[in-house]
Amino acid sequence: MKNYARAFAPATVANVSCGFDVFGFALEHPGDEVELWLNDSGEVNIRAITGDGGLLPRDAGANTCSVAVQHLLHSLNIKTGVDIVLHKKLPLGSGMGSSAASAAAALVAVNHALGEPLKRNELLPFAMEAERIACGSAHADNAAPAIMGGFVLIRNKDTLDIIDIPVPEELHAVVIHPHIEIKTSDARQAMKKTLSLTDAVKQWGNTAALVAALMKSDYDLIGRSMEDVVAEPVRSLFIPGFAVIKQAALDAGALGCGISGSGPSMFAFCRGNSIAQQVSDKMLEGFASVKLQADSYVSPVNKEGARIMPS
Ligand code: HSE
Repeated sequence: MKNYARAFAPATVANVSCGFDVFGFALEHPGDEVELWLNDSGEVNIRAITGDGGLLPRDAGANTCSVAVQHLLHSLNIKTGVDIVLHKKLPLGSGMGSSAASAAAALVAVNHALGEPLKRNELLPFAMEAERIACGSAHADNAAPAIMGGFVLIRNKDTLDIIDIPVPEELHAVVIHPHIEIKTSDARQAMKKTLSLTDAVKQWGNTAALVAALMKSDYDLIGRSMEDVVAEPVRSLFIPGFAVIKQAALDAGALGCGISGSGPSMFAFCRGNSIAQQVSDKMLEGFASVKLQADSYVSPVNKEGARIMPS
């Protein structure tokens, strides 16, 4: 057991167009970092948060990084105190898995400091409890890839039946974050509560096809499968210029394009880094045309997930 650990956890893209609440993948960068120290106080405290402009709660019962640690300690019946410093590098309310990344980094750090009592996948329930604090729903499609990396399929979030889907080597993601904020809780509230059978059939056809396409490295089928008749028709209304920017991405060679998580970030899948860079440029131009500043991230799928950093 060590007294100190520092961990990084990456941004994630949840839903991946057709897979509302069941698909997610990790990016190489950006990501949040957590430093923590074990002590004898018996309490979990947030000592400091950097990079959030003072916006995140400092109350340990209200921040995803500390809530996740509290749940882990409680589950293992460990009475140690923990002091946490969160280095917030992901934008808040961005659709890039910001709340999950803080929880994932904290969990990987505290597990390391405690001498690795739990395996990676055993950390997930605590990150899901943190998601419940952040947005009212314990979904796993950001938390699982943030902790474990890769492209994951959440077959069942109650039994944690989670499947790692291999992805083609050349697959690159572009994520564009326009400088507006959408709360996940609001974006979930906006969803329709029932689906027509016609839409359900389309959606499960696409989810199954996307898995097959990734496993077969069938880039054309990846693109054809990235159709979302469940979340995108509702949530795209909150993203200025969405339809034009999506078309610009496709015209520039993207395989497919949609909303990252609950938005407002948009993502595209591309074959190779150079097409991804061109797609990124066109999507940034699209947001500029609707007078929105935006940041771009281009990355292959991160297969490792959260990681311990040198101290
Ligand atoms: N699946 C979740 C949602 C992800 O779309 O509400 C939130 O980032």
